[in-house]
Amino acid sequence: MNATAPILSRTGHEPKAKLVPSQIAHFVLYTKRFAEMVPWYKTVFQMHASHEDENLAFLTYDYEHHRVAIVQVPHMKDPQDGVAGFHHVAFTYRSLHDLLVTHERLQTHGIRPYWAVNHGPTTSVYFRDPDGNRVEMQVDNFDSAEEGIAFCRLPEFAENPIGVDFEPAELLRRLRAGETEAALKVRPNIGPRDLKSGFPAG
Ligand SMILES: [Fe+2]
Repeated sequence: MNATAPILSRTGHEPKAKLVPSQIAHFVLYTKRFAEMVPWYKTVFQMHASHEDENLAFLTYDYEHHRVAIVQVPHMKDPQDGVAGFHHVAFTYRSLHDLLVTHERLQTHGIRPYWAVNHGPTTSVYFRDPDGNRVEMQVDNFDSAEEGIAFCRLPEFAENPIGVDFEPAELLRRLRAGETEAALKVRPNIGPRDLKSGFPAG
């Protein structure tokens, strides 16, 4: 990228005075289940290795050298629930179709989500990797970031900041039957949902 080019928002040119990162580049996982983790990430995100040996894998799906690095560290303790810190990472797909077809493809591999939820700003499907780390696949429900932010300011988001659960296979069936993505991404109104109790155990 041209070093003098303005930083772009999702909706177009938006010159910024602040020097900020252009994107999140990657995350790194230490694991004692290297032989399970590497194929899982390759399968789930259709990644390939830009480097791979018996202890280290750099995985990517695009121009970046690696989006995920996985490091074999024997005798690691498993990640633990109930501990403060990193909770999940989210990957954005280009369309609801791409998200739901990916979910369908993963079912054939026996990889199933623990939660599918329309948050309002996004439609999201959550998985656990073999170590139990959570990864989210999402699609933006609005064409612009501004519209998504505006939704988060509505009273219906204040009373339910978590979302409305959905069944991915059913949503894909409706999409294939001819309903529009825009219509299927509208979050239904189910009234209040508590932030503390509303998240599933996953
Ligand atoms: Fe998220």
